[in-house]
Amino acid sequence: VADDLPRLWQHWREQRPPTRGIHVDSAAAGRSSFATIQAVTDHLHLEAEVGAYIAQASADAVLTALRGDVANLLGVETDGVAFVESASAALQALLGAWPLPDHAQVAVAPSEWAPNLAAFAARGLDVVELPTDGAGVVDPDGLGRLLAISRPALVHICQVAAHRGLVQPVADLARVCRAADVPLWVDAAQALGHVDVATDADVVYATSRKWLCGPRGVGMLGIASQWWPSLRVRHHVLAPIDEGVARALESDDAHIAGRVALATSIRQLRDIGASTVWQRLDEVGRLTRAALLDLPSWSVLDANGTAITALRPTRGQDVAIVRARLLDEYGILATASTPARAPRDMTEPLLRLSPHVDCSSDQLGMIRTALHAIG
Ligand SMILES: Cc1ncc(COP(=O)(O)O)c(C=O)c1O
Repeated sequence: VADDLPRLWQHWREQRPPTRGIHVDSAAAGRSSFATIQAVTDHLHLEAEVGAYIAQASADAVLTALRGDVANLLGVETDGVAFVESASAALQALLGAWPLPDHAQVAVAPSEWAPNLAAFAARGLDVVELPTDGAGVVDPDGLGRLLAISRPALVHICQVAAHRGLVQPVADLARVCRAADVPLWVDAAQALGHVDVATDADVVYATSRKWLCGPRGVGMLGIASQWWPSLRVRHHVLAPIDEGVARALESDDAHIAGRVALATSIRQLRDIGASTVWQRLDEVGRLTRAALLDLPSWSVLDANGTAITALRPTRGQDVAIVRARLLDEYGILATASTPARAPRDMTEPLLRLSPHVDCSSDQLGMIRTALHAIG
């Protein structure tokens, strides 16, 4: 029995294979449950036994229900959901389909994820920066003022930043964008399964593998219905005549076993209650930051409402080396974030810890001891 871990989160831990060491890297990829892993392998077996397309047809009810569940989580209509391979694939699909002239402006927060900035540049878009407070939180009033004087083609927000504990007030931003008639796209790669992503945004996209603890290779995209008529999509020549625009953004072939298993991960989230998980992740973030305060060689960055914690080395330590030593010597899996991940926000490498709901004070104590020893 894990020290002070409440029964609910002990159960969450027991539902998945035991870790080799301490996994505090959900922001990279969460840990799937036995049931999710079983659902992948069961479907793969079925594909080999009856044929891949028969297996897919027999999973039709599961896949249809999944589309509805994902629509609920993303806050869009079911026909606005597309399944893709990853969050990046979702952004690519959007940038290909959305009517955007060259040099159209995309307004982003300084904490924007670098590969998204690269995708905007590759699409010929210009980036403008949104006004934020000292912590990097986008200011809804400032956004309103910006939209009143310059009209970007869209506002793009990472709801939860990847490199530090920063959550954006997407519901407020959505209200301001809607009033100004400027579309809001939300990158929820770090947000889905972590905080509530069902706001009134025009677009929300995410991945299965992080906070939902679903399989890798499954991403999802939700588009509000008012935009469907303006999307430029190419339907597969063999697609049904009445195929919706969101479906046309999906690959012809796909990781169906992963989608079937994502349905299991979402069912397990629902069994606990999504908002119970969001609250627990907020608590885990606060416990993590409290446990690591006052380490002599590290400073804990402030955070708001997330389980992601970033640590800044204060004595010039090489974060990549510390990350490697944590893993090799203590079995602690964390991330070294280079400034290249968020070049408008980061000035130096940070150590990222992203525990999930089953993080115990025992584990936090071991992480503290390890960081103390490494220096
Ligand atoms: C904020 C953010 N956006 C997008 C992505 C890309 O997600 P994917 O690897 O599924 O393409 C990540 C991945 O870490 C991320 O943290």
